[in-house]
Amino acid sequence: IQADALAAVAAATDERSLDDARVAFLGKKGSLTLASAGMKDLPNDQKPIMGQALNVARTAITQAIDEKKAALESEADKKSVEGIDLTLPGRELLQGGLHPLTLVKDRAVSILRRMGFALADGPEIETEYHCFDALNTPDDHPARNEKDTFYFDSGKLLRTHTSSVQIRTMEKASAPVRIIAPGSAYRRDEIDATHLSVFNQLEGLYVDKDVKLGDLKGTLEYFLRAMFGTDTEVRFRPHFFPFTEPSFEIDVKLHVKGQEPKWIEVAGCGMVDPAVFSSVSEQRKDDAFDPENVTGFAFGMGIDRLAMIQYGIKDIRLLIENDARFLQQFA
Ligand code: PHE
Repeated sequence: IQADALAAVAAATDERSLDDARVAFLGKKGSLTLASAGMKDLPNDQKPIMGQALNVARTAITQAIDEKKAALESEADKKSVEGIDLTLPGRELLQGGLHPLTLVKDRAVSILRRMGFALADGPEIETEYHCFDALNTPDDHPARNEKDTFYFDSGKLLRTHTSSVQIRTMEKASAPVRIIAPGSAYRRDEIDATHLSVFNQLEGLYVDKDVKLGDLKGTLEYFLRAMFGTDTEVRFRPHFFPFTEPSFEIDVKLHVKGQEPKWIEVAGCGMVDPAVFSSVSEQRKDDAFDPENVTGFAFGMGIDRLAMIQYGIKDIRLLIENDARFLQQFA
């Protein structure tokens, strides 16, 4: 029996035929089991001898089956994982997250929408009219210079600010207007720690009867405190823009770990210059934005600068380098 069993085990080529062999010899009706059952018919003096022989056979067969089983398994493993080390830890799946600029923009937009501003937009490839002329920018203004602005052969340009959306909006809407327009702007600036040549602005425009400078100041101070906390330090510096009068630049204190806090400019703003309403009215050929009837304020914030304040980033270039070590801090 033992010899037959060992031959059957050796001949097994898969788990199934191995199990068939096990059943044939060791199963309930297997030949070794039947032989054990037949022991009771033997004369007493032969029982121990037969018993021992059967035990030896059972041990040998069981061991042969176990070894064969292990051999079949390892062979199957080898086939299925050729070249793969199953003991290596799995590769971690990296999870993406929103870019800090997106996080800051989304928050700014949500605060301003709560304050009653609706979203608006306009093209990034703009006409000189929408980017400069309608915004009361004289022909010889430095911002129009080819050195500062990306021009196309067609005479169109990459908008240098989102203020063109002010004009685009007033061409179609009627007062009161209360819009914000986040988007990209382009300048041929030297790139440094606070300047990029492609950057992100958030334009705001509020036009109605009787909008006053106090509305501008209150709105922007409220916004900046909602954004950065009630103890945010903000200052308005008189400035000049062709399309607002009076005009201001707004600075906010930037706190970077381990460094002296410093003021950085985050926005330009001012009361809409009546000349802007005049160009819009001339174009529309109606009095919806007649400077006799409406006043307004406008602002243009640098979203990249807001992100610097929000997260204490001292170099604006980190925002475009896509260094995973930087970005992972915001995931
Ligand atoms: N367009 C100006 C700039 O890019 C900012 C600004 C917007 C100023 C609206 C006043 C009003 O610098």
